[in-house]
Amino acid sequence: MWKLYRGDSFQLIGQLAAESVDLILTDPPYNLSPYSTGNIRLPWRKEINNDLAEWDRREFVPAEWVGTFKRVLKKTGNLFAFTSYNLLGKWHEAFDPEFDTFQFMVWHKTNPVPKVRRAGFLNSCELIVCLWNKGHTWNFSSQKEMHNFIEAPICMGGERWKDPRHPTQKPLRVLEHVIRIASNPGDTIFDPFMGVGSTGVAAVRTGRRFIGFEAEEKYFQAAQERIKKVVLEFPG
Ligand SMILES: C[S@@+](CC[C@H](N)C(=O)[O-])C[C@H]1O[C@@H](n2cnc3c(N)ncnc32)[C@H](O)[C@@H]1O
Repeated sequence: MWKLYRGDSFQLIGQLAAESVDLILTDPPYNLSPYSTGNIRLPWRKEINNDLAEWDRREFVPAEWVGTFKRVLKKTGNLFAFTSYNLLGKWHEAFDPEFDTFQFMVWHKTNPVPKVRRAGFLNSCELIVCLWNKGHTWNFSSQKEMHNFIEAPICMGGERWKDPRHPTQKPLRVLEHVIRIASNPGDTIFDPFMGVGSTGVAAVRTGRRFIGFEAEEKYFQAAQERIKKVVLEFPG
């Protein structure tokens, strides 16, 4: 079972029933636009994506989401959200007092975008904040699965959705790992900022239900197409 809605998640989330979601796994805007110098144009290769996106210009304020996320999440639920260095403190400030535990994971990108101008670190790590309360779902069999560090390449080849291309499409390897350790088969996974639907694809592939929101029509259409396709492969 999967349901996708196009529109502003701030409004749409009001339609979700209280305590109806087992895992919020999402990737909201990062508010990185003010720090971006834009895509990098080089004469000898195609333009390098520098994650400058129109949707990232509208400020994402973690404190505005804590109440609604808590309302829709079951008492046994988990919340995992990709974020960036500039928002980590704001997530902590708003969410730590409202949940029993606040931790984070690091996704190390094994093939980060190169820094052609040799100006500092590669952007090879992404942060994921992780939140839960006592009695939450945990699903792992060995400590090896529980390092708060995971390595995976950024989406390439067949996994990368080409039309439209989403600048921050997340890899299934990372999403499926989180879904497996933080939910059970048949659970409902919710992504209010689903882009081209990667969380939905990972949910279907791991035998979970999915609810997704996306504001931009082109990404919404792509998410629908991707999820329909994967449902044929994993009819569950
Ligand atoms: C970081 S991207 C998510 C990418 C996604 N993880 C993927 O793999 O495709 C954030 C997405 O949230 C969408 N978005 C931003 N603000 C939104 C809002 N208020 N309501 C719904 N979607 C929104 C953007 O259009 C963008 O596609």
